[in-house]
Amino acid sequence: MAAYDTLCPGCFIEKGKTAVCPHCGYDENERSPLALPHRTMLDGRYLAGRVLGKLGGFGITYLGWDVRLETFVAIKEYLPRDMAGRDTDRATVAPHSKEDEKLFRYGLEQFLQEVRTLAKFDHANVVRVRTFFEENDTAYLVMDYYKGITLEEYRKQKGGKIPEKLAMDIMMPVLDGLREVHAKGFLHRDIKPQNIYLTKDGRPILLDFGAARFAMGERSRSLSVVLTPGFAPYEQYHKRGKQGPWTDIYSCGATLYTMVTGKVPPEAIERKEQDELVPPAGIINNISESLDSAIIKSLAIESNDRPQQVRDFQDMLMDETSEPPVKPKPIPEAEQKPTPKPKTKQKSTYMPYSEIEPKKECDYLNAPTNITSILKQYWKPILFCAIGSAIGWIIDEVIGIIIGAAIGTAIGIIAGGTIGSIIVGVVGMVITIWQIEKARHNSRHT
Ligand SMILES: Nc1ncnc2c1ncn2[C@@H]1O[C@H](COP(=O)(O)OP(=O)(O)O)[C@@H](O)[C@H]1O
Ligand SMILES: [Mg+2]
Repeated sequence: MAAYDTLCPGCFIEKGKTAVCPHCGYDENERSPLALPHRTMLDGRYLAGRVLGKLGGFGITYLGWDVRLETFVAIKEYLPRDMAGRDTDRATVAPHSKEDEKLFRYGLEQFLQEVRTLAKFDHANVVRVRTFFEENDTAYLVMDYYKGITLEEYRKQKGGKIPEKLAMDIMMPVLDGLREVHAKGFLHRDIKPQNIYLTKDGRPILLDFGAARFAMGERSRSLSVVLTPGFAPYEQYHKRGKQGPWTDIYSCGATLYTMVTGKVPPEAIERKEQDELVPPAGIINNISESLDSAIIKSLAIESNDRPQQVRDFQDMLMDETSEPPVKPKPIPEAEQKPTPKPKTKQKSTYMPYSEIEPKKECDYLNAPTNITSILKQYWKPILFCAIGSAIGWIIDEVIGIIIGAAIGTAIGIIAGGTIGSIIVGVVGMVITIWQIEKARHNSRHT
């Protein structure tokens, strides 16, 4: 795909042949061999770009470029690392053994099921699926790409804790989205700050529906890819644990807990032995009673003691005189009925929070002003120009500096080889000549 060879996989802007993008600073050399090669064309239409987040245990999420629509997308590739790897062609995914193949196939089926369910959602706070296809002996899910950061990144930017009102403003729309998910008889099962995305225009979005992961978890060897300590309730640790909306409610409670206290709750399995959960009010002093008590109720170890439906939890969060959770009633996932609209006594205070800063590392939103990326790109002509000028200065003050700077810059350009380098070189030369002329002018007058 020669036509796309010069597109940066970090921002999909034309960048020439350099490894480091002058626009966003993305360095092509830093690519894990497990990921698809940069700019791999998928489904004849999507180019694979940089890896979003970290390489997951279950799959890899890439920034993608839809060459037809010329828009960004997020592409999730099914690649359970425990049981499969990349073949020598660097594209095909192959199970490690015959035994692994069975589980791999089963997971692929589950992944497809998950996509079908996800595709049915049309909610502002749930990630939007564009398409799904099979290629390279695996499967790919294509989603809308959102500019923004994860709630976890946002929390860290804020110094670890998020003020109560803002935390509520983020959680309420997430719960709205979750109601829709539950109404379709589906559970998220991995809600945590890393899986809630905050778009630049202030919209929280639920990402990463890991149904396949969990279905496989029952057969897989490692639980670590299946649940997240601190956010997963006790029932997720057991094959026959009774899961339902209350399972996601526990994770939302843990997410709220982390947002306001800056601490992750102790692991559910440890709490079952000895509960050392400190209530939020024991960690921070300015938390409202309603939030403190709603978080504690949602984090009940026994699923029956938690709010049973998202609507109950939302009511608790919004109402100081909230009623105790409705009588527990196990609901098989498939039989869940759509939940009626919440009886909100108070409007959600959610407002876009424009103060979300864009990602620091490689984001086209702020990249051109990134001094490190400029230095990374232009260090060769700058260095050679400086060395040349210094040598020239020693040999012959005025003429020497010009020739030295010129030769130095030229070497730098050859070594750097970009149009950007030439511009830097020329600017360097102009400044040098201007300085020399100024010095001459001054010496004529003295
Ligand atoms: N649609 C999307 N838009 C923008 N970023 C995304 C999108 N989907 C995923 N990401 C980013 O990629 C990361 C990993 O994606 P995720 O679906 O959570 O997979 P996993 O956790 O299994 O690796 C997220 O934390 C987020 O930073
Ligand atoms: Mg995730």
